[in-house]
Amino acid sequence: MLKFSLVGLLAAISGIFAQSPTWAQCGGDGWTGPTTCVDGFTCTFNNQWYSQCRPTPTSVCTTAPSSVPEPPTAKYDGLATLAKKAKKKYFGTAIDNPNLRDCAYTAKLNDTKEFNQITPGNSLKWDATEASRGTFTFLESDIAVALGVQNKQHIRGHTCVWHNQLPNWVTAGNFDNITLNSIVANHCSTVVGRYKAQIQLGHSERYKLCLYVIPPPTYPDSTELFNEDGTWRNSVFYNTTGESFVATALRAAHAADPKTKLYINDYNIEGTGPKSTAMFNLVKSLKAQRIPIHGVGLQAHLIVGQIPSTIQANIEQFAGLGVDISITELDIRMTLPVTDALLAQQKIDYQTVVSACNAVPRCIGVTIWDYTDKYSWVPSTFSGQGAALPWDENLVKKPAYDGIVTGFARPQGARP
Ligand SMILES: *[C@@H]1O[C@H](CO)[C@@H](O)[C@H](O)[C@H]1NC(C)=O
Ligand SMILES: *[C@@H]1O[C@H](CO)[C@@H](O)[C@H](O)[C@H]1NC(C)=O
Ligand SMILES: *[C@@H]1O[C@H](CO)[C@@H](O)[C@H](O)[C@H]1NC(C)=O
Repeated sequence: MLKFSLVGLLAAISGIFAQSPTWAQCGGDGWTGPTTCVDGFTCTFNNQWYSQCRPTPTSVCTTAPSSVPEPPTAKYDGLATLAKKAKKKYFGTAIDNPNLRDCAYTAKLNDTKEFNQITPGNSLKWDATEASRGTFTFLESDIAVALGVQNKQHIRGHTCVWHNQLPNWVTAGNFDNITLNSIVANHCSTVVGRYKAQIQLGHSERYKLCLYVIPPPTYPDSTELFNEDGTWRNSVFYNTTGESFVATALRAAHAADPKTKLYINDYNIEGTGPKSTAMFNLVKSLKAQRIPIHGVGLQAHLIVGQIPSTIQANIEQFAGLGVDISITELDIRMTLPVTDALLAQQKIDYQTVVSACNAVPRCIGVTIWDYTDKYSWVPSTFSGQGAALPWDENLVKKPAYDGIVTGFARPQGARP
């Protein structure tokens, strides 16, 4: 009897405490298995029939760090303050959820004198939001957007169509034109529609979610629509639908949230040239067809000492189409090791880019691709290169910071 009840008890305990492994089912109609997940994973509702163990969303540090590298008593205006003085809407930074656990990082990110805009770097991409067809997850992006809303920072979305970071079901699905267009429409309308409420709640421009659509490429570590010579790149979208997925994405996004500004974003279109011309012609043609398009994003992943001399002229050309321009992913990398001479050149280069934006009223703001070298994507992507951002790995300002300050104070072409 005793033995029997012990066994029963143990069975009951193991029934209660057994945990589903990572990514396994943990709930749904008719599910009788364990309903909790192993450490680091949370049972997440997918649909009526299926809940799954997915990584627990990153928590945001809420504790002020005990030591801040640059005490708030130091007198500074902050880059966002300077951007607004220059009549821009914002100066901002990309963020990635895992880094929000870093208290010193998050405290500085929260400083709206420096940053009045954020872009979720990965959490809104297709692989993060629709890993299986028709099943959407916004665990991480909800946290990023909520942080920006609480801080009263502008939020830019990122991105509803891109050739990269796509789940296999999209790239290998062998869909026909009509089906893939409908998949794009459903994805863009769901992702963009998700944060419509934030805008209404905000009752203010500052909560407006900007989304940008990044079309195809072939080359996996780049992004985008065009080859360097201005011809269209191959991607699953371009191969299957021709150019039509661009209009599909923009129309679906606009229908889901008519107040959101829609951008097309690319790299190596910072200066004039065949690729910038291809973008110019695309935007012109979209506008002629009354397809909603509100802006062009110049990514600006640049190299120290190699800033195109035609940035301002190029921005002016886009402005002539009646769209806004944003610098969306600015970083300026160098070949390591860091030297004083490279830092001095980097300062000049940041100033050049920011002052070009400053000089054109329709250039509305500048976003850096994270603010500290500690969390830059550069070293893992470009071997032997790095130190691309205005704050070093210890969150201390580099000369590049002063270059940005000067860029907002003095438009390009103005007298020193
Ligand atoms: C950052 O801002 C968020 C939202 O305003 C707040 O909840 C959090 O405590 C802040 N964290 C730090 C480290 O300042
Ligand atoms: C697109 O089509 C071209 C030509 O058929 C092919 O070489 C390329 O691999 C395709 N790309 C993708 C991403 O499907
Ligand atoms: C795909 O369909 C659209 C209409 O929905 C059409 O405009 C486009 O030309 C088609 N693309 C291809 C490659 O057939």
